[in-house]
Amino acid sequence: MGTRGPARIAPSILAADFATLADDVARVRPQSDLLHVDIMDGHFVRNLTIGPPVVASLRAHTDLFLDCHLMVSDPSWMFEPLAAAGANGVSIHVELGDPTDAIAAMRRLGISPGLVLSPGTPLDAALPHLEAIDLLLVMSVEPGFGAQAFKAEVLPKLAEARRVIDERGLDVALQIDGGIGEQTAPLARASGADILVAGSAIFATADPLAAAYRIRHAASGSA
Ligand code: DX5
Ligand code: ZN
Repeated sequence: MGTRGPARIAPSILAADFATLADDVARVRPQSDLLHVDIMDGHFVRNLTIGPPVVASLRAHTDLFLDCHLMVSDPSWMFEPLAAAGANGVSIHVELGDPTDAIAAMRRLGISPGLVLSPGTPLDAALPHLEAIDLLLVMSVEPGFGAQAFKAEVLPKLAEARRVIDERGLDVALQIDGGIGEQTAPLARASGADILVAGSAIFATADPLAAAYRIRHAASGSA
């Protein structure tokens, strides 16, 4: 029971240099298990990032699983272009409403579906859909921006998600995103996270590869 296998590290390109993205991704590749791609529409959150064309560009430069976190108000039109661009996983926020049709649409396109809970959203919102998804993302900052402080108050929700996933025997990866670094990775890991997303703690350092290694090492010390 509990977390399955070693922690997986997902650098978030939100903190990379968008003008040198391929180089930044290549640099952290040896310590990366997935690549976290934050897609924001300026409406669901007050920030604007990238969309399917940049995902397609990334696809040409990396073999990593492209884990797209959609912070957009109307995600459904984006599934097809993202699939065509080579996205592997797409996660949508449960705050948008019943995700049943969206999950089915992603499956039809060969996309691995995920659900996201903002910090204030209870786990209950995702529970009816756990059997249908591959990834559950518990956010530990308000979505929209990198480099915010980790909200430790989400840890009980993370631990409860772990418990339910294990109790139901599901193959759902549990991801945490926001404020993850060397100090907080062990906390998230101890509460059951499988995948640790980290943006600024990796890319806003002089040596992103070493920073990713240190987070991996810190996480392996617990759970
Ligand atoms: C925030 C994004 C995160 C962000 C995390 O809305 O979902 O993926 O990149 O950044 P850090 O790791 O700096 O908190
Ligand atoms: Zn994210």
